Amino acid sequence: MADPYSNLAAEDKAMQTAIADAMDARCKEPAQMAIRKEYLSDLDLPEGAFAVEFGSGTGHVTHDLITLAGADRALGIEPSPVMVQRAETHFASEPGLSFEIGDAKRTSLEDGSVDLVLMHTLLCHVPGPEDVIAEAHRVLKPGGILAVCDGDYDTATAQIADFDPLDQVVRFMIDQNVTNLWVMRRVAGMLAASGFDLGKRRAHSYVAEGEATYYLTVINRGAERMAETGVLFPETAEALKDEARRRVEESTFFGFMSYVSQIACKPG
Ligand SMILES: C[S@@+](CC[C@H](N)C(=O)[O-])C[C@H]1O[C@@H](n2cnc3c(N)ncnc32)[C@H](O)[C@@H]1O
Repeated sequence: MADPYSNLAAEDKAMQTAIADAMDARCKEPAQMAIRKEYLSDLDLPEGAFAVEFGSGTGHVTHDLITLAGADRALGIEPSPVMVQRAETHFASEPGLSFEIGDAKRTSLEDGSVDLVLMHTLLCHVPGPEDVIAEAHRVLKPGGILAVCDGDYDTATAQIADFDPLDQVVRFMIDQNVTNLWVMRRVAGMLAASGFDLGKRRAHSYVAEGEATYYLTVINRGAERMAETGVLFPETAEALKDEARRRVEESTFFGFMSYVSQIACKPG
């Protein structure tokens, strides 16, 4: 199966809605908010800065461009109409914040018009990530900042013992939903090749807490996909979903992934 995030607008509405629900759950988790705060709150933007998020999903991270990064105005660009509508509903009353349908490889932004471009968990899903990086370089002002953050997906795990079957569900989910598995280990090279000066690179650990709301969406969607593709009988998939829920109830669930952020600057 092709990564559904790589052409979300072409997926049926039920799939787009399920992904929007998962994105909302992830964005609202305190541990995820902490990651965004770690790399967005010390960017040095000029007065009145205009920031753009490429691949803005349900809009929470675009909102962070104003509240954490200190931009005056922020625009989210996103191909899925379901996502854009959800973002507009969430943030209708926020001054300076807007969303539009578009493709990060070909935006309608003018050359040299943007102070900050953000790609938060976008590049792992895009075939040809170099084209998105080139578009960011085109639209940024000289001295403008590019911030990239994504999962280091090979570190994702729910394993709590040898041969733990839940971990296979996580691995299957990554296999089915990530186009560029190694993107954060290669992005510095891509940015340098596109003419960016490299800034700070940081690792951010994510461990599911409390109700593990987002990680359960990963297990549930992974188990359902295993049933759809014939890896498991539907009853087995349901049993694995129950196993994860039960672990959360019994405080034995463990879900982890490392994220990496990379800051870069357009020279000038
Ligand atoms: C994992 S979601 C992340 C959404 C948001 N950045 C967040 O962290 O909540 C990835 C998003 O990138 C979008 N996307 C995929 N390809 C894109 C492209 N070529 N241009 C713009 N957005 C794209 C998807 O539709 C999806 O909403």
